[in-house]
Amino acid sequence: MSSTFDAGSRKVTVPEVLRRKSTSSCGVPRGKIVALTAYDYPTAHLLDECGVDIVLVGDSLGMVLLGAENTLSVTVDETLHYTRAVRRGLRRALLVADMPYGSYHVDDSDAVRNALRMVKEGGAEAVKVEGGERRVDRIARLVEAEIPVMGHIGLTPQSIHALGGFRVQGKTTDAAEQLFRDARAVEAGGAFSIVLECIPRELAAEITRELHIPTIGIGAGPDCDGQILVLHDLIGLGVRAAPKFARRYANVAETISRAVSAYAEDVRTRTFPADAESYQLSVDVRERLSASGP
Ligand code: KIV
Repeated sequence: MSSTFDAGSRKVTVPEVLRRKSTSSCGVPRGKIVALTAYDYPTAHLLDECGVDIVLVGDSLGMVLLGAENTLSVTVDETLHYTRAVRRGLRRALLVADMPYGSYHVDDSDAVRNALRMVKEGGAEAVKVEGGERRVDRIARLVEAEIPVMGHIGLTPQSIHALGGFRVQGKTTDAAEQLFRDARAVEAGGAFSIVLECIPRELAAEITRELHIPTIGIGAGPDCDGQILVLHDLIGLGVRAAPKFARRYANVAETISRAVSAYAEDVRTRTFPADAESYQLSVDVRERLSASGP
């Protein structure tokens, strides 16, 4: 039996993602979940056409689109702006909006209010929140408000100052045990899936085996139920170096540079625009204009 999932044209829903847990109760392998970030309409449209299952408007937008040092400055309004654009580009994929730093850290009602905006104003079908054990009640409160939640543990970029930098998590016995507690807490809170970021592959495999919800890895090895990457790392459109776990499939930065340099050269050498790229007066109007003279 093939384990390749035919993306087809069926809409990806939250229950569908839950069903895609890698092994069914009778041990049959299911297709991996393919997830990527997107922040704009044309890219979202392309990803959807390619059969990507989950599109995340990640707060990585602060870094890859807006040039910030980290994700902390991203706001709810900024996320909504990009989520609306992505919404217009998707037909099949599930749209998840990342809850930015500060939008769910104050109290339950603030978190629910901000998450509801993602659904009502942004068209998101789920939100993502970072954090494990200490986030369990907040996740449960969002789920109670009918907002599906994707969890996110391991390297959680919104905790960058507490973690002391972007580095692999769960490397000591204590840290590994904490990761297991975090994963269980996210599931207990009612999340429908969980991102595991930058943790040793053995831990990710074990967490994936233990949880009933799908795990989506980023720098967490091949055994997760799905994988996610920041699109800009995959297509080679970043200004900064991509992390070790990202595989680059294209060099779009080079393609853009070449195109822009060629355009600049053509403008400077007066070869752009050519006659075919210009509008012409009719012969009639041209003759009448030259007859009337300046
Ligand atoms: O912000 C983001 O893009 C993310 C993914 C990389 C998981 O959180």
